[in-house]
Amino acid sequence: MSRTILRGRVLSFVSEPQGMDDAGSYRYWEDGAITIETGKIIAVGDFVATDGAEIIDHRPHLILPGFIDTHLHYVQSQIMASYAGSLLEWLNTYTFVEEQKFSQQGHAEVVASAFYDELIRHGTTTAVAYCSSHPRSVDAFFGEAEKRNMLMVGGKVMMDRNAPEALCDTAQSSYDDTKMLIERWHGRGRGLYAISPRFAITSTPQQLEAARALVAEHPDCYVQTHLSENDAEISLSMQLYPNSPDYTGIYEDYGLLGPRTLLGHSIHLNHRETRVLAETGSVAVFCPTSNLFLGSGLFDRERLSKAGVRIGVATDIGGGTNFCMLRTLDEAYKILQLRGQRMNPFASFYMATLGNAGALSLEGTIGAIAPGNSADLIVLDAAATPAMALRKQTISSLAEELFLLQTLGDDRSIAEVYVAGARAKSVLSGLAAS
Ligand code: GUN
Ligand code: ZN
Repeated sequence: MSRTILRGRVLSFVSEPQGMDDAGSYRYWEDGAITIETGKIIAVGDFVATDGAEIIDHRPHLILPGFIDTHLHYVQSQIMASYAGSLLEWLNTYTFVEEQKFSQQGHAEVVASAFYDELIRHGTTTAVAYCSSHPRSVDAFFGEAEKRNMLMVGGKVMMDRNAPEALCDTAQSSYDDTKMLIERWHGRGRGLYAISPRFAITSTPQQLEAARALVAEHPDCYVQTHLSENDAEISLSMQLYPNSPDYTGIYEDYGLLGPRTLLGHSIHLNHRETRVLAETGSVAVFCPTSNLFLGSGLFDRERLSKAGVRIGVATDIGGGTNFCMLRTLDEAYKILQLRGQRMNPFASFYMATLGNAGALSLEGTIGAIAPGNSADLIVLDAAATPAMALRKQTISSLAEELFLLQTLGDDRSIAEVYVAGARAKSVLSGLAAS
């Protein structure tokens, strides 16, 4: 059986860092070795010369687990950077128009292929995606993931009102299509399905009932939706569901909350909503670049975290403005600065790796460099640009290096990506990696 050893400076988290000095929250090997066999990590530790294995030397770069992105819309790849005042205008003007293209034969395959190239280029090895309302967009999404052997989560958007007719399904068809897609894709290869009612505004009570039935029938699938992103969205949701106590209460009333539920944005939550998220184990997903771009608001990480709410971090493409989790962490940092909640770089990189794996209940599979986990890995170069190289000369600690990567880094800092042990970034451009 062929073995590969990756040599480099290896960093992986074991728990959430409680501060800059929490050295127990991570493992770091200055001259480390990751041994890989049949796509899995079989050992990690100090490098020792051995015979019989291919050695790939990535020194002086850092090797981390691949980034995980817990909320994005692959079908919005071509409307990133669309000029809009706020969420509902952006949805109506660009998003609902763009997503209609996925009814066309062949369109989804082309976009899915380009989308996966971008994920890899930016060091993201797992993502949780909304597809469009068309089943064929889901087939393209999982089909491409399967070709690339990537662990991906996704689902058909369920939406049966307040959108163009061409994009709307019905409560029954969304149930039938979702059921068929779960059977086709959930657990096939590395694919996992997310039942995906878009948000309360675009789902009738009958459709949320259908989602409830799907969740009850498929408790091992994820659930993803949007929650409390924007003031106008909240008001309209409460008009449409006047009997629910608040926005979170709508999803609660339809049995959609729980430890496998990912709630994009979760910005403007009251105390009751925060308590319900904590009690149900639901995940609030912080989408910093999107929240700034659409002017949606400042995520309150500290309040949610103190209340015991699980938190993920994500790009939210195409409301988000970059595929890159480094850029996302940078903007997360700036939002939290405005909140007086400065996040240290260990906590940032934890969130994008083991933290997001935990949000998906996938620790033990991805998000850490540990025996038994998949060899989904990235190689980070903190001197990838002239400005980074200049700053790096004055750096003397791992924390400073991580902060430099987060603040100045982008796809150029991702020197290589491994998916299930196979090189994925250098092969994109046909380059022989160093
Ligand atoms: N709320 C409902 N749909 C969407 C979407 O596509 N993007 C964002 N940012 N919020 C949403
Ligand atoms: Zn979204």
